[in-house]
Amino acid sequence: MTSLTIRPLRAADIDPLAQLMAATPLWKRHHVTYAGATRRLQAGLENKATIDVAAVDGAAVGFIWYATRGIFLRSGYISLLGVSASQRGQGVGQALMGHAEQVMFAEVGEIFLLVSDFNQVARRFYQRMGYQQVGGIPDYLTPGVTELLFMKKKESGVR
Ligand SMILES: CC(C)(COP(=O)(O)OP(=O)(O)OC[C@H]1O[C@@H](n2cnc3c(N)ncnc32)[C@H](O)[C@@H]1OP(=O)(O)O)[C@@H](O)C(=O)NCCC(=O)NCCS
Repeated sequence: MTSLTIRPLRAADIDPLAQLMAATPLWKRHHVTYAGATRRLQAGLENKATIDVAAVDGAAVGFIWYATRGIFLRSGYISLLGVSASQRGQGVGQALMGHAEQVMFAEVGEIFLLVSDFNQVARRFYQRMGYQQVGGIPDYLTPGVTELLFMKKKESGVR
């Protein structure tokens, strides 16, 4: 991988990132379309949500959407994380997570996220990043799918 940078979302990133989401089996299973992903990212940009982009040679290849007090009015929450299929397995996801953790752990003691029960790759990835399953929410996003609640504590050590 050459020159990976992490920077805030720009309008020009929305098209490649919406394509990424629409092409990913995880989000297909949750009925995400290119149009829906575009609307969601545009709304995030307009509402100044914290969406950071991993760019290789300027082009967006992944993103992370998070909120420092995004859950229980006290803890960090990672809402979405995605890396384009051609760039996976090279540390882009890890770099995005490390960036978001650095920002949020400066203010809060825990970070939470949801991962779909069938998403074995992401479950292993998050466990390797130091997250532990602390609960589950059946039928939350899609009927028949349980969203597993994962948590990492600031003092739990990294990776
Ligand atoms: C989950 C996801 C974000 C991980 O992104 P990624 O960029 O592939 O992550 P990394 O490269 O940092 O780590 C992935 C694996 O590659 C390995 N890896 C990391 N750096 C590497 C490198 N330089 N060279 C080769 N392999 C590497 C890691 O050991 C890791 O192995 P694991 O299977 O034990 O987790 C990505 O698979 C994805 O976008 N999936 C679809 C969407 C999704 O499931 N999102 C999460 C739920 S919202």
